[in-house]
Amino acid sequence: MIAASPQSLVERAKRVNRGYGVGGRDIFPNVYLAPMSGVTDISFRRLISRLSGGRTGLLVSEFITVEGLTKLNPRICRQMAFAPEERPFTVQIYGGEAEKMAWGASMVEEAGADFVEINCGCPAPKIVRRGGGSGLLRDHENLKAIIAGVKKAVKIPVTVKVRVGWAEDSINLLETQKVVEGEGAAALVIHGRTRQQGYKGLANWDLIALAKSRGAIPVIGNGDILKVEDVIEKLERYGVDGVAVGRGAMHNPWIFNQIADLYEGKVPKEPTLEEHAALFTLYLDLLREEQDVEGRVLGKLKQMGARVLKCLPNSKGGRTEVLRSGTVAEFFDNLHKLLGGIPDYNGREMDFRELNGKDAVDPIQGVDYRN
Ligand SMILES: Cc1cc2nc3c(=O)[nH]c(=O)nc-3n(C[C@H](O)[C@H](O)[C@H](O)COP(=O)(O)O)c2cc1C
Repeated sequence: MIAASPQSLVERAKRVNRGYGVGGRDIFPNVYLAPMSGVTDISFRRLISRLSGGRTGLLVSEFITVEGLTKLNPRICRQMAFAPEERPFTVQIYGGEAEKMAWGASMVEEAGADFVEINCGCPAPKIVRRGGGSGLLRDHENLKAIIAGVKKAVKIPVTVKVRVGWAEDSINLLETQKVVEGEGAAALVIHGRTRQQGYKGLANWDLIALAKSRGAIPVIGNGDILKVEDVIEKLERYGVDGVAVGRGAMHNPWIFNQIADLYEGKVPKEPTLEEHAALFTLYLDLLREEQDVEGRVLGKLKQMGARVLKCLPNSKGGRTEVLRSGTVAEFFDNLHKLLGGIPDYNGREMDFRELNGKDAVDPIQGVDYRN
């Protein structure tokens, strides 16, 4: 908890590893936004960058299909776009065919990205069926061919994001790491769950630590980080070079600012109610720069509202009203009503909830990955 021992957190932060290099480029701070399809688009990433004064370490695109890139599908190609404030910037691509992945990677380089990342973690059946995403965890020969092909096609550093294995009884992180390192990738991002887990249960950080202890290239650990304390704890206990924050950034988009402040020796601040309101106003401005379909703008505001507002005390009724809003104006009316009805909040800690749902089905995409 931030307020419990803020000073000791500052001291602990001084002792952890706080930066690392990817392909000869320094990345600081060593906390970055994990790619989330349907979430981490240019507006969301710019929001995160603005909230932290550009101190986000590394921003990554949503995963982009090389099928769409190689067909020059305009909607898919647009997903590679990023703003100068987002640098250093990674575009993540997925696919199961080495040739198309190489072609896609060269388009990423042409688009000006600093790094290209290969997705070996997506659990979605339709992607796995075509050999991409976490399907590559079961086909190391193809993974090898894909990394080699991508490496050959581009000069920018290539990173790889993986899960620890396909299922509990086939964890093969160290073997995957060997392939990734053997083919000359510049960094390995590890989401500490199996494909079978989807987003359920907790990430296995012991496995991430094991890979870090065995490997030669930087290891970025990923899974279940919500608060700055979690960042410090993961860096202290598991010795990784950096961490990636996914769903936690939807609940707490201020986390990058908090960690950067901490690294600068300041006690990280809890967002006030006014800052909650300002968050949505800024997000609206950034969304409107990209979108003129009002329904989509409203959808995105609600997507963020569903997570961020959950962290406010006694917000359930008000949150439901906000999420039922029919227009952007109504959204803001309901938001201000909700925020105005919370007494004595400022200075209090955010009330974080579990990232995961209670049942076996993926809480976000509604898919059960057990079979
Ligand atoms: C809605 C959603 C979309 C995601 N999309 C991607 C993606 O495009 N590429 C990827 O590598 N991982 C994707 N992930 C996985 C996250 O990057 C991350 O590995 C995972 O959520 C675990 O981190 P967390 O516990 O901090 O959320 C996605 C996760 C979520 C929840």
